[in-house]
Amino acid sequence: MLKKGQALVVMGAQFGDEGKGKLVDVLAADADVVCRVQGGNNAGHTVYVAGQKIVTHLVPLGILRKGCINLIGAGVVIDPFVLCQEIKEIQLAGYNVTPENLGIDPRAHVILPYHKFVDADREAKRSKSGSAIGTTGRGIGPTYASRAYRDGLRMGDLSSRENLEAAFKLNPHMTEHLDEKRQTELVEAAEFLTPFLKDAALVAARSIAHKKKLLFEGAQAALLDVSFGTYPFVTSSQIVSGSVAGGIGLSPHAIGQILGVIKAYSTRVGQGPMAGELSGSLEHKIRDLGKEYGATTGRPRRIGWLDLVALRYQTVVNGFTNLALMKSDVLNGLESVGVVVAYRDKRTGSYMKGWPMTNAAWDAVDPVVEFVPGWNEMVDGKNKLTKPFAAYVKRIEEFVDCRIKFISTGPKREEFIWV
Ligand code: IMP
Repeated sequence: MLKKGQALVVMGAQFGDEGKGKLVDVLAADADVVCRVQGGNNAGHTVYVAGQKIVTHLVPLGILRKGCINLIGAGVVIDPFVLCQEIKEIQLAGYNVTPENLGIDPRAHVILPYHKFVDADREAKRSKSGSAIGTTGRGIGPTYASRAYRDGLRMGDLSSRENLEAAFKLNPHMTEHLDEKRQTELVEAAEFLTPFLKDAALVAARSIAHKKKLLFEGAQAALLDVSFGTYPFVTSSQIVSGSVAGGIGLSPHAIGQILGVIKAYSTRVGQGPMAGELSGSLEHKIRDLGKEYGATTGRPRRIGWLDLVALRYQTVVNGFTNLALMKSDVLNGLESVGVVVAYRDKRTGSYMKGWPMTNAAWDAVDPVVEFVPGWNEMVDGKNKLTKPFAAYVKRIEEFVDCRIKFISTGPKREEFIWV
């Protein structure tokens, strides 16, 4: 699917946790370079390789493929303690992680203990007024806020004790919740990470010029985009496909394909609107079968039907060239499966055009759920889609006007089909 001299973007089309990790892992087998461009360790990708469960939060999944270069772009926010530990864990699992196959842009901003404290403190205050976002508590928002305030610390500032001390002198608030012991540990983490620092923008541009295949590993998802998601119940970075090139400093001309990833049902962690949300025994059944607990925080995910209205809207905004459908096997055996096909005005009963842009617009509508026949098996003995499952796939494709190219048939690396 990847093409020489082009980039392919893999991005979540729902609220995250669509199974992007598995897809990126599969595609990375054919990629020369894999890039992370936004978010931080609020993301968590889980893959199963030869019976081994591997969870990454910051390191691109191309690290599991020999000869693949992995880049963390300037748009990512990095907790140096987490990144060090993650690199060591991947090495312990038997994979090579060296400055040859991992590059970190010195312009990426650093998450400090102070940012995590601000994140928790703001959430506690919001909770009291019933308006908590349900953040992952990793300090992501405050770090992007520091970047916007222009008083943040960047990975390049960690490259020597003198640089770090100069940055702390300029912005003394950064040392809050960073006692002497932790400061020493930060310096140690910095020493470990400094050899990985390199201009990721240049590496990406040169790779395209040399006809290499680039893969962008999306984190979070369209409905959590800070501008186009369900604000304020969103993350703090831009996720839409139009922002991806900016997260590493590559020309948007390099992007050839945008693969939107969906799950056969919806999940959401944290607060905010979710059309078609389920409650009761079906909610519990799907959560348990789909192991729908946050890879980062362990929180149980909210469960709902696939929202085709949101997907159609995001297909337009993001220009998905194709879709990938994940985790349909979790719904095997259900008599019928719901999909949200309209939002209806609570007062007038009229159907909404587009997608709600404000909280008031969300409050004004009710979702309309259509039920389609369920399936026992997704594929038959010849690896062809079974009739009821093919009808479900067709319903999605026709509604959103985008073809499904990749279908995952189980959690393992080899369980998928190209359509
Ligand atoms: P933050 O990104 O930690 O500030 O959290 C903001 C919102 O985004 C919360 O609802 C989180 O649960 C959600 N969120 C952030 N990252 C992810 C992710 O990778 N998957 C799913 N939800 C996420």
